[in-house]
Amino acid sequence: MSEIPTTMFAWTKTTDSVGGFARIEHPVPTPAAGEVLVKTHSTSVCGTDIHIWKWDEWSRENVPLGTITGHETCGQVVGLGEGVDSHSIGDLVAIECHLACWNCPRCEEGNAHICENGSIFGVHINGAFGPYFVVPAVNARQIPEGLDPGYASIQDPLGNAIHTLTGGPVKDSTVAIHGLGPIGLFAVNAAKAMGAAKIIAVDWDNTYRMDLAKSLGADLVLGKENDVVAEILAATDGRGVDNSCEFSGSPQALANTVHSTRMGGYVNILSVYGNSMPEVPMNEVVFRYLHIKGINGRKMWSTWDTMHDLLEQGLIDVDAVLTHRMSIDDFEQAVDLAIAGNCGKVVLDFT
Ligand SMILES: NC(=O)c1ccc[n+]([C@@H]2O[C@H](COP(=O)([O-])OP(=O)(O)OC[C@H]3O[C@@H](n4cnc5c(N)ncnc54)[C@H](O)[C@@H]3O)[C@@H](O)[C@H]2O)c1
Ligand SMILES: [Zn+2]
Ligand SMILES: [Zn+2]
Repeated sequence: MSEIPTTMFAWTKTTDSVGGFARIEHPVPTPAAGEVLVKTHSTSVCGTDIHIWKWDEWSRENVPLGTITGHETCGQVVGLGEGVDSHSIGDLVAIECHLACWNCPRCEEGNAHICENGSIFGVHINGAFGPYFVVPAVNARQIPEGLDPGYASIQDPLGNAIHTLTGGPVKDSTVAIHGLGPIGLFAVNAAKAMGAAKIIAVDWDNTYRMDLAKSLGADLVLGKENDVVAEILAATDGRGVDNSCEFSGSPQALANTVHSTRMGGYVNILSVYGNSMPEVPMNEVVFRYLHIKGINGRKMWSTWDTMHDLLEQGLIDVDAVLTHRMSIDDFEQAVDLAIAGNCGKVVLDFT
């Protein structure tokens, strides 16, 4: 293994404005007790990175200037902090970006993804748009058998998709996916893999992604030309779907989910609503007896277990959703591409 340098250049959020990234020099971090040092293989661009690029209200409140962002990542363990015996040098790992204390009531009840003392790698603290990073060893997950290490960073968004879907019934159920960004596309793929009876995929105007959703197994694909609520009701004998998942970040789409979910059904929301706070039709929620759930991150570790099962069985078509590989040198172009949207997942490689 090559020698570890003392400094590195990493993409850093430096200025209080839209964009505002620079590739600046940082020391290569040293793993503290319980941490591993990872050499980055690849890091993908997430919707959250786009929020940070746009420097919206949520980002301004959460990302300190000077942070190396990037949280969907994988690489090779090259250093072990004191007391780490769960990993070996050379292990290939992907990162769970929610860092937990493992000691608060939320962690103890099995909800470490919403730890009361938690933080998010690559959002609140330094992440992986640089060539080396440190994380707690428990957050460095071994890569499942059969998954190309170059694809491993996508477990973060795939896990988001699975966590959202499993907030309601999937097998033999009708499922609507609103918003066909990379996470929505993974949700279409995962819903198919998990045995959904009917999958309705909805975007606004992104025909590139709507075509991808069709090829990943959506039974019906809707867009701005359609009356989304009426079409979903028509496709479900007037009832609405069992399980609606919201991945668009559009207030209109959230209202659509409420109006097109069956009585007593499930609405699971992963989106972050940038600058526009949605109004929720609350009387519909009450009288339709809906279960509305906010979804954050991935369950640690049941979502990872479900995901590894699906990946090991070859049921997730990572190749179809991962549409672009670029060099980390092209970080700014990759964010532009992700904002323009003629892409699925965009992955940045370090070698
Ligand atoms: N809660 C969490 O833990 C978490 C984690 C990751 C991402 N997120 C959020 O999840 C969302 C999805 O992420 P992504 O990267 O897949 O998203 P993305 O921003 O790439 O894609 C959103 C898609 O929604 C479509 N859209 C816009 N208006 C719509 C409408 N009215 N109806 C249907 N579709 C519409 C867009 O055309 C686009 O294709 C983002 O809001 C992101 O910030 C949340
Ligand atoms: Zn992400
Ligand atoms: Zn905790």
